[in-house]
Amino acid sequence: MSTSLEGQSVVVVGGSTGIGWAVAETTAKAGARTFALGRSGRAPEGTQGMVADVTDLPSMKAAFARIGQIHHIAYTAWSRQGAPSLGTLTSDHLQQTFDAKLFGALHAVRLALPYLDPLASITFTSGQVSRRYGVGSVLKGSVNAAVDSAGKHLAKELAPRRVNVISPGVTDTAQWGEAGSAKRLEALERIAAALPIKRVATPEELASAYLFVMANPFVTGAVFDINGGGLL
Ligand SMILES: NC(=O)c1ccc[n+]([C@@H]2O[C@H](COP(=O)([O-])OP(=O)(O)OC[C@H]3O[C@@H](n4cnc5c(N)ncnc54)[C@H](OP(=O)(O)O)[C@@H]3O)[C@@H](O)[C@H]2O)c1
Repeated sequence: MSTSLEGQSVVVVGGSTGIGWAVAETTAKAGARTFALGRSGRAPEGTQGMVADVTDLPSMKAAFARIGQIHHIAYTAWSRQGAPSLGTLTSDHLQQTFDAKLFGALHAVRLALPYLDPLASITFTSGQVSRRYGVGSVLKGSVNAAVDSAGKHLAKELAPRRVNVISPGVTDTAQWGEAGSAKRLEALERIAAALPIKRVATPEELASAYLFVMANPFVTGAVFDINGGGLL
């Protein structure tokens, strides 16, 4: 089956860094007209960067109106809040996490509805911590579980449009520290040692999963684990 996205438009919400950046780059290479949305407006070569904030709904609405017809949305935006335990969890942690990752995703799809192609695909992003339980994981775990669930509900509600969720394991992005920093290298080496694959994912390995769900017209309501065996 072809993974060409020739003649199609892709919007990556959170496309200005990390996994979203790789999704924007990969879909543009597959022939799509790709728009990378974020607060910074940064975007890979061959894509169009647009300044939009998922917590500022008029900015999202304006971005979709400028883009016009949309064939695929990938949502990778989120707010880095660390791993607070319940005792140290603040309203701010909760608000920012759920605003950027869950509420932002639902609002984005709602605001994009007038522009969504009848056979459009929507791909949310959760994370393995929704099902990997541990101390300090209640915040990320619960928001990711909510995203997994939202994707399945919307796959029925928005059909025949397709809705899927990519659930990454640990992936080498700035979430883990500045590029090349000792903090990032040490954290990723420690995590890699415990994985069956013995390394963490690259953003490009994640991006190929987003491309797969966009291009395969029979995939909907699925949560794809791309985690190097992190849930085993
Ligand atoms: N990396 C991992 O190990 C890992 C593991 C499991 C799950 N995940 C999930 O994968 C997704 C992407 O992670 P990542 O590591 O690529 O993260 P990242 O590098 O921190 O990227 C986050 C993106 O979200 C955008 N963003 C944040 N707040 C925003 C806002 N209010 N409005 C618009 N855009 C906003 C940022 O762009 P601007 O700053 O330009 O706004 C950036 O492009 C997240 O859902 C994360 O939870 C990652």
